[in-house]
Amino acid sequence: MRVVVLVSGGGTNLQSLLDASRSGSLGAAAIVGVISNRPGAGALDRATAAGVPTRVVDHRGFAGRSSFDAALRAEVDSLGAELIVLAGFMRVLTETFLAGLEDRVINIHPSLLPSFPGVRAQSQALHHGAKVAGCTVHFVDAGLDSGAIIAQAAVPVLDDDTDESLQARILVEEHRLLPVVVADLAAGRVRRQGRRVSRAT
Ligand code: GRF
Repeated sequence: MRVVVLVSGGGTNLQSLLDASRSGSLGAAAIVGVISNRPGAGALDRATAAGVPTRVVDHRGFAGRSSFDAALRAEVDSLGAELIVLAGFMRVLTETFLAGLEDRVINIHPSLLPSFPGVRAQSQALHHGAKVAGCTVHFVDAGLDSGAIIAQAAVPVLDDDTDESLQARILVEEHRLLPVVVADLAAGRVRRQGRRVSRAT
């Protein structure tokens, strides 16, 4: 399965996919390209170091969201993507991008959705007083972190946690969960009925 990863930042989630691919634990999934909306994203260096082609579609170069989404979709299609993984990608995608890609775009979000969508999710949970936090891999729809949930992992919130300590604890689970879900999707082990998604083990 040809996988294209969309990134914006440092790319630690991308790195977990690259490492899983090298160790053979991604199964039939192959990362064929990495695209960033930010030219200087550290994730691009990680892709290059792993020999994966990179592209940049800089959102600042477009008049509006739909023209950016159309250009991004053209790049994704040119790479022959069969699965698109948002990994630390910080743009909300519209129907212009998503059209025809039902259940072929996934995202990893650092909260137990539907709680705490959007930015700084880890901090939202901490300062709301949540006792359990975690991460979610979900299908992407045109909403904000609102697509059907595929998998989740929970971590405790400790009394002495800071934004940074909780973020680090969640990130460990993100790096474990995302490659497992990508491998499951590539193996055809994911079934969806409405919002209910199951993964055959
Ligand atoms: C991660 O917590 C991810 O869930 C969020 O951004 C953080 C950094 O991601 N969207 P990465 O290191 O760039 O993969």
